[in-house]
Amino acid sequence: MERLQKVIARSGIASRRKAEELILNGKVKVDGKVILELGTKVNENSKVEVNGVLISKEDKVYYLLNKPRGVITSTKDEHNRKTVVDLIEEDKRIYPVGRLDYDTTGIILLTNDGELSNLLMHPKNEIDKVYIAKIKGIILPKDLMQLKNGVVIDGRKTKKARIKLKKIDKINNTSIVELTIHEGRNHQVKKMFESIGYEVLKLKREKIAFLDLSGLKSGEYRKLNPKEVKKLYA
Ligand code: URA
Repeated sequence: MERLQKVIARSGIASRRKAEELILNGKVKVDGKVILELGTKVNENSKVEVNGVLISKEDKVYYLLNKPRGVITSTKDEHNRKTVVDLIEEDKRIYPVGRLDYDTTGIILLTNDGELSNLLMHPKNEIDKVYIAKIKGIILPKDLMQLKNGVVIDGRKTKKARIKLKKIDKINNTSIVELTIHEGRNHQVKKMFESIGYEVLKLKREKIAFLDLSGLKSGEYRKLNPKEVKKLYA
């Protein structure tokens, strides 16, 4: 939901101030009704008319970014740190779908399509996300089983996960584990390992649904093609 004057301003037909004037002067209709309240919120499906003319909706854009370390997943940062949005050259106001921690790398989608963003983040849609975690210690088979069956984090058990042990390094005392989960709880992967006594040293997200990082180096991005967008909606 967004403020009506902002939606009008973004369509390019008036500045924010002018849009406010238009509203106060009764020139703006939402879904056929004149709106005089400045703070009125509208959603993507609302029909907004100014002086009887329907304003056109912004084109949707979809990006897939290979997020580097040391970048925050947000549109703005109060400490002026670089954000994932800063890495993409796009004039439209885009935002990340979900989150990766400051020190987590890998795949993240950015878009101005709120509907798709909600669909992808809703737990009921069970979108698979594949992570590769490098952890301290040699992980035991019984601990891998626990991760698979669910562990309690923040007082609630995690859903079943798919787990693959990719590598153990006895010299450096580390293990590499692939996890496929479809929840998106805060710091979920780190907390899952923490709950069974392991520290995550490095974390990368390699896949979201059928999308992966093929061809993209750290910090690089590409647009999704229309087929991919359609498949995500499906
Ligand atoms: N789980 C985490 O702990 N961190 C991330 O960035 C993503 C999933």
